[in-house]
Amino acid sequence: MYETLFKAIEIDPLNLPTKFPNEVIFEIGFGGGENIAHQAQKHPNALCIGCEPFVNGIASLLNKIDEESIQNIRIFADDANILLKALPDHVITKGFILFPDPWPKKRHHKRRVVCLENLLQLHKKMAKNAELVIATDHPTYLEWILDITAQAMFKDHFQAVNTLECPRPSEDDIPVTRYEKKALENRPGAFLIFKAI
Ligand SMILES: C[S@@+](CC[C@H](N)C(=O)[O-])C[C@H]1O[C@@H](n2cnc3c(N)ncnc32)[C@H](O)[C@@H]1O
Repeated sequence: MYETLFKAIEIDPLNLPTKFPNEVIFEIGFGGGENIAHQAQKHPNALCIGCEPFVNGIASLLNKIDEESIQNIRIFADDANILLKALPDHVITKGFILFPDPWPKKRHHKRRVVCLENLLQLHKKMAKNAELVIATDHPTYLEWILDITAQAMFKDHFQAVNTLECPRPSEDDIPVTRYEKKALENRPGAFLIFKAI
């Protein structure tokens, strides 16, 4: 149904724009697209790039883009790391990884999107002082994230801005996504915010 719209706004790692705007918002795993659509409307001058391989999620975001005439979103319908590798360094001014799949079984931990390698790759593409938001409601994934972000290698690249003790960012900053709403039935999410140094 939205094939034409999708074709018009999909981003191709092999054919990237030659110039990026001063503000680039990048989301890994946008799910239903609530956050990237919100960011795009809140920051009309930003280029908002959302990565999500899940077809129903892409359809939901395309629907929002169409209904609300959002002009500044580009979609990558695959693994965010493929696009990240192709992006020029230091272009991302804000990054989001909200409620990534927890992969609770130990043998699946290697599938977790939040790992040191991916965060260092993301850092390479982030501008100095750019913020990265990572949210999770899953206790063992949170422990995993806290272990990674306590490592010296991570701390050489990022500085913590928002710790576990901090309240959730306002809904004007980050809307409640479908996954967060579901999580809230059991437990609140933790929002960790880091600054690229
Ligand atoms: C649990 S959902 C959360 C979605 C959304 N962030 C939210 O809060 O509602 C995690 C999403 O990340 C996507 N995902 C997983 N690995 C990814 C990757 N490497 N690149 C892009 N998206 C990914 C999945 O398809 C899934 O839709």
